[in-house]
Amino acid sequence: MNSLKFAAPCLFGLEGICANELKFNGFDDVKTENGRVTFSGDLNALAKANIISRYAERITLLLSEFNVYSFDDLFEGIKSIPWEQWLCKDDAFPVLGRCLGSKLHSVSDCQKIIKKAVADRLSWKYGISWFEESGAVHRIRFLIINDKLSIMLDTSGEGLHKRGYRADSNDAPIKETLAAAMVDLARVRPNHFVVDPMCGSGTILIEAAMKAFKIAPGLNRSFSAERWSQIPENIWQNQREEAKSLINRDCAFKAIGYDIDENALLIAKNNAKIAGVADGLEFIKRDINDFSFDNDYETVIVNPPYGERLLDIDAAEKLYKTMGDKFIRDKGKSYTIISPDDDFERVFGRKADKRRKLYNGMLECQVYMYFR
Ligand SMILES: C[S@@+](CC[C@H](N)C(=O)[O-])C[C@H]1O[C@@H](n2cnc3c(N)ncnc32)[C@H](O)[C@@H]1O
Repeated sequence: MNSLKFAAPCLFGLEGICANELKFNGFDDVKTENGRVTFSGDLNALAKANIISRYAERITLLLSEFNVYSFDDLFEGIKSIPWEQWLCKDDAFPVLGRCLGSKLHSVSDCQKIIKKAVADRLSWKYGISWFEESGAVHRIRFLIINDKLSIMLDTSGEGLHKRGYRADSNDAPIKETLAAAMVDLARVRPNHFVVDPMCGSGTILIEAAMKAFKIAPGLNRSFSAERWSQIPENIWQNQREEAKSLINRDCAFKAIGYDIDENALLIAKNNAKIAGVADGLEFIKRDINDFSFDNDYETVIVNPPYGERLLDIDAAEKLYKTMGDKFIRDKGKSYTIISPDDDFERVFGRKADKRRKLYNGMLECQVYMYFR
């Protein structure tokens, strides 16, 4: 199983960041596509990608890609895949997927046909006609875009944004993968002092600390492929050991989170503890109106209310104006702010030095970066 192909779906706009991380970590044939990154490797790569990726939503085995114009094409194409290489006779194989801009547009019909084709193949291979599906879960994911099908096996299970540290969250928490991307865009280094003036449940600062201390995001969670009999247990152990050996807390990293919501701060403290980064982080109740700097060098990263789930647009824009007044242009300071508001720069008071379009779920946002 040397040359497996993988697809790592990610939030739109994070493809480049996700690909750079995979390249930096030595994965082969890394290529970006819309909403995903593909790469190749062996079973070690499968385990490693799950454990180390900060930006991928999941790691899937990309089994095949072909054009489908009819249910017959779909059935025959799926049946020709050697499913028995991955599925034992009692394994569970639920099917999930999406169809976009294609002749085959009924997701439920495609699900049924794929399920039937896989079952037919396995019946023929194993000589059984009834599948108990009581064994390890091998979730099959399909995507049909413009009549091209990608068929995948999900190796992660729960989305990789679930690092295992978010015991609780306040209203409108940012997704961990998106918070990690903001940290990357803010170029956080192990000697940085990072501030989130509206930290909520602390996700951005926890992701920043994990990156600074080189803590792999998947170290404290399990993955669905860990229960697959095709992957020897020592592969997971070795990759975990390697990731642990890279942790380095011997650095000057510090971070402070402020918020007006006391309950959010309690949640943030608890989450930081679970993530194993509580030592580098402090959480203090403070209104953005009272914000001031404690150091010459500060990296500010913030996910303010958008005026959608939290506050209304006028109240949100008042906060943007306050940020613009407080976040002074200064040599040692940088500001990385995410907002869906097209008017953000005008209200904030300055044009960003750099912008990056990305999606917070379905919501189109810009990350505004000020560093000059
Ligand atoms: C979108 S949430 C931040 C979510 C956070 N990134 C997380 O992952 O949980 C915005 C936060 O701004 C806080 N907030 C609203 N008005 C504020 C103000 N005037 N000063 C400080 N924080 C404020 C809210 O309490 C909320 O926690």
